[in-house]
Amino acid sequence: MTLEAVRAAVARPKGSVEVLTHLAAEDIAEVNAIIVARMQSPVAVIPLLADHLINAGGKRLRPLLTVASARLAGARDDACLKLAAAVEFIHTATLLHDDVVDSSQLRRGKVAAHLIWGAPSSVLVGDFLFAKAFELMVEAGSMKALDILAKAAGVIAEGEVLQLTRAHDLNLSQDVYLQIIGAKTAELFAAAAEAGAVSAGAPEAQIAAMRDYAMNLGLAFQLADDALDYGGVTETLGKNAGDDFREGKATLPLLLAIARTGSAEAAFWERTIGRREQTDADLDRAIALIRDTGALEATLDQAADFAAKAKQALSLMASNSWRTALEDLADFAVSRRT
Ligand code: IPE
Ligand code: IPE
Ligand code: MG
Ligand code: MG
Repeated sequence: MTLEAVRAAVARPKGSVEVLTHLAAEDIAEVNAIIVARMQSPVAVIPLLADHLINAGGKRLRPLLTVASARLAGARDDACLKLAAAVEFIHTATLLHDDVVDSSQLRRGKVAAHLIWGAPSSVLVGDFLFAKAFELMVEAGSMKALDILAKAAGVIAEGEVLQLTRAHDLNLSQDVYLQIIGAKTAELFAAAAEAGAVSAGAPEAQIAAMRDYAMNLGLAFQLADDALDYGGVTETLGKNAGDDFREGKATLPLLLAIARTGSAEAAFWERTIGRREQTDADLDRAIALIRDTGALEATLDQAADFAAKAKQALSLMASNSWRTALEDLADFAVSRRT
């Protein structure tokens, strides 16, 4: 893919969540109602802080996966809705924790909660939302779905801690990078879809197919996210572009650029990432190097490969509008600007 091709792809985004959002509109409205009902508390700061983040929007991709997976597997009842709400609560809790860990200032186009209420409140409200997720999962009544999502919550935390310990490692291997994004992001995508299929009583092969689809989708999604941190725009992202560089986070675009610039830029990377001594001009230079070495395109190419694998996994499922919408979602994960 040439830089021209990347620009063209950006100008005409392929794939969208619109059809999926439309198909799942009633379900997601109910999921949102469950979320709002369950984030209430007599301790005022809890609903205030939770509302700040939850009402700021968010794509609701993970609950969409739970609902779509259940419906694609033939579910006619509403067993998947509490699970979908639980999944979004887990996601929201990880965002509250993640923005503290990453010192991020912007989330969903709004000032990050920890900058308004402080890091302690943010972390504790995250814990509250985790607890609410577990209540909902128990109420949903499927031990198997509970097992899947409880394990996923542990894996996400492992991924975040692993990333923390390897954050500034300029020699991070692509294998470990993929292990990190698999754990911190793709695992919840996979568990969300798997739990949806389980709640629908789908046969084992279909449950495995939905997990496989969403795992690959999650990897594509995070790879694209890591590309957007260098190639995206803060206004459309709703979070600050350049955060990964400022944090010195070893993501694929950076790792590839470091490898491709070799000894010529070794001192630059060692100073800016290794020691995190940076000026604003350093970010511009990093972006230029990441673009000029093709590191950005290579990252998006890898994302496209995972998206293609995701679509393949769906071949086992019924061929209907839900499946088409999930195929579109795989394209959206790579081409998105938000
Ligand atoms: C943000 O996820 C965290 C990542 C895995 C990159 P989303 O981009 O799905 O966040 P919202 O929910 O739409 O805000
Ligand atoms: C996203 O982590 C994964 C979780 C929140 C667990 P990142 O730190 O890469 O995502 P953003 O850029 O803050 O959304
Ligand atoms: Mg972050
Ligand atoms: Mg993070």
